[in-house]
Amino acid sequence: MRKKIIAGNWKMNLDYNEGLGVFTEIINMVKDEVTGTQEAVICSPFIHINSLVQLAKGYNKVSVGAQNAHQAESGAYTGEISAKMIKSIGAAYVILGHSERRQYFGETNELLAKKTDTVLKHDLRPIFCIGETLQEREANEHFDVIKSQLVEGVFHLEAAEFSKLVLAYEPVWAIGTGVTATSAQAQEIHEFIRKEIAAKYSQEVADATTILYGGSCNPKNAAELFAQPDIDGGLIGGASLKSRDFVDIVKAYN
Ligand code: G3P
Repeated sequence: MRKKIIAGNWKMNLDYNEGLGVFTEIINMVKDEVTGTQEAVICSPFIHINSLVQLAKGYNKVSVGAQNAHQAESGAYTGEISAKMIKSIGAAYVILGHSERRQYFGETNELLAKKTDTVLKHDLRPIFCIGETLQEREANEHFDVIKSQLVEGVFHLEAAEFSKLVLAYEPVWAIGTGVTATSAQAQEIHEFIRKEIAAKYSQEVADATTILYGGSCNPKNAAELFAQPDIDGGLIGGASLKSRDFVDIVKAYN
């Protein structure tokens, strides 16, 4: 069976001390309350990662990730952080291709393909985000957009490498808006993604790929989303900043 993952994306929120506080609460609640096989991941700003990894030691249900990595190995890229650095402090995951990176930092599918290679080379698991804008959905282009993001971003990988990815479907119109995709809308796209993976690789690879839903997921709507056959967890923004809400979402996937 594929892995169930609930990942929090803190984005550029919580200063160092606030982050450690929220994370400590999350660990304690997960330890006391989560009985299933699901894994909770917090993708924090870079400056928190080292300390969060230390706090998470010994708790195999909680992992830590980054929100971005540079495509180059190392070099004169002032202000950037490499995959090797992220790996060296014990993170396990890296979010790639979030729509905010695509929109505000001009990240293209071509660039993201390179970032994916670099992140995999350093034995980190990418959480690779795809999803359409409202305009694209209204123009009925959402399936084409998602297919291009897959083909240009990750379908260059060999099956063995592709199998290390986690995918996240995040409709841009649902991110931070309070408008969640209905469970039927999300399931329709997740099923489409899985079929594309089966066509490119194999049914076996498709069946083993964890595909998360992201976009205004909260403790109230999580259970219904996670009950869909092709939704394998969530990528949570705003609600991951509050330990109680985040852990309630983790618990909704039992
Ligand atoms: O990556 C998570 C995300 O973009 C969803 O954000 O605040 O709508 O849960 P939010």
